[in-house]
Amino acid sequence: MAPAGRPVASLRESFPGLEILDQAEQLIPYSFDGTAELTQLPAAVVFPRSTGEVASVLRWSSKHKVPVVARGSGTGLSGGSVPVRSGVVLCLSRMDKILEVDAANLTLRAESGAITSAVAAAAEKAGLFYPPDPGSMRISTIGGNVAENSGGLRGLKYGVTRDYVMGLEVVLAGGEVIRTGNQCVKDVAGYTLRDLFIGSEGTLGVITQVLLKLLPPPLSRKTMLAVYDEMEQAARTVSAIIAAKIIPCTLEFLDHVTLNCVEDHAAIGLPRDAEAILLMETDGHPAAVESEAEAMARIARAHGARSLQKAANAAEAASLAAARRTAFAALARVRPTTILEDATVPRSRLAEMIAFIREVSRRHQVKIGTFGHMGDGNLHPTFLTDEKNGEEMRRVEAAMREIFEKAVELGGTITGEHGVGLAKKKFLEAAVGRANVELMRRIKAALDPDGLLNPGKIFDFS
Ligand code: LAC
Ligand code: ZN
Repeated sequence: MAPAGRPVASLRESFPGLEILDQAEQLIPYSFDGTAELTQLPAAVVFPRSTGEVASVLRWSSKHKVPVVARGSGTGLSGGSVPVRSGVVLCLSRMDKILEVDAANLTLRAESGAITSAVAAAAEKAGLFYPPDPGSMRISTIGGNVAENSGGLRGLKYGVTRDYVMGLEVVLAGGEVIRTGNQCVKDVAGYTLRDLFIGSEGTLGVITQVLLKLLPPPLSRKTMLAVYDEMEQAARTVSAIIAAKIIPCTLEFLDHVTLNCVEDHAAIGLPRDAEAILLMETDGHPAAVESEAEAMARIARAHGARSLQKAANAAEAASLAAARRTAFAALARVRPTTILEDATVPRSRLAEMIAFIREVSRRHQVKIGTFGHMGDGNLHPTFLTDEKNGEEMRRVEAAMREIFEKAVELGGTITGEHGVGLAKKKFLEAAVGRANVELMRRIKAALDPDGLLNPGKIFDFS
């Protein structure tokens, strides 16, 4: 064991060249992520600059039995990178190089601390396209995206981070470095271990490098905004578009509360009196885009859209998407505490889920703004509350539990893209069943028998 309370001294002795923070005021920025209510100061934060340094820290952690929590920019929304008391935070932000764009193989290799938008920009510079675009992409790191299997606004057509990971370099508990996956389009040699680490929230290993798949960019795009007087009309539009066998790249919605917060923040002329707006985007070959856009507009009108606005040009489309991306930040300005949820249902059940959220909000008298990736069935009901008000927080807790239970009852899940972390841990077994959680524990035991990697996240392990 590391002498209790002395991990920092031991770290400094073992790694004289490593950048280490250990003063309380230096540690505060690393004591939380993007999730409300969860903070914990670590004993120290270290900033490795190479895979070798990450491996050395994990060897040290294993020898002294000190927990390690890996993190990137800390934009996570389930507490996945919140530190562990007396543990060390391994911040990968200094490992941020884009190492290679390989146009012959349509791949990009980057260190895990590279910012997601820098990855997308490097692909674009080479005339290629990295589709996953989480709301936080201008701040989040690609390693964090892989560890959480982040989604984004284009999930409907292009899938999520997992669908673009071809290979990983991972440092295991104890310091062994493995590479899994490669540039081959096909590879069935043994278990696909890379998939085990994607979405494992730092509990099975520390991702140090990623190999990503790129696509040729779409030749054209069309973006539209449909405005509704009733939320269910927007939900039914989405179900009808999918049922008509059209897969647009984006079908995002904002409810009345959210769109007003976004308008306060971004002032782009959103219709403040609307109950819901739907941001629809189709991309691909110009001829297909043209006919899909027409069909989507027709379906939106048939389901009650009171107006339909087409983005006049790329700049206008980008400003609509940018405004949508600010939804969480805009809602967060309303009340002291913002609790963002990630309930997800099969798309045929969207209207039911949305009606339920509204009913729960009324019955428990809690303020909820809902937005999200409607085309994916992935909703972000967001509680605007105050953690200092115990009585209100009890109503929020009750409402939240009911929303999760309803999502599961409708064949859905407790988190579509933010992960389990600490925030959803108590709902995991209800969502996936005991047998699945037990199997996860056995996998954890095989890879991290001492429970040193991000302990206490996803499920308890001891
Ligand atoms: C978004 C994040 C909160 O959709 O998931 O903006
Ligand atoms: Zn989202």
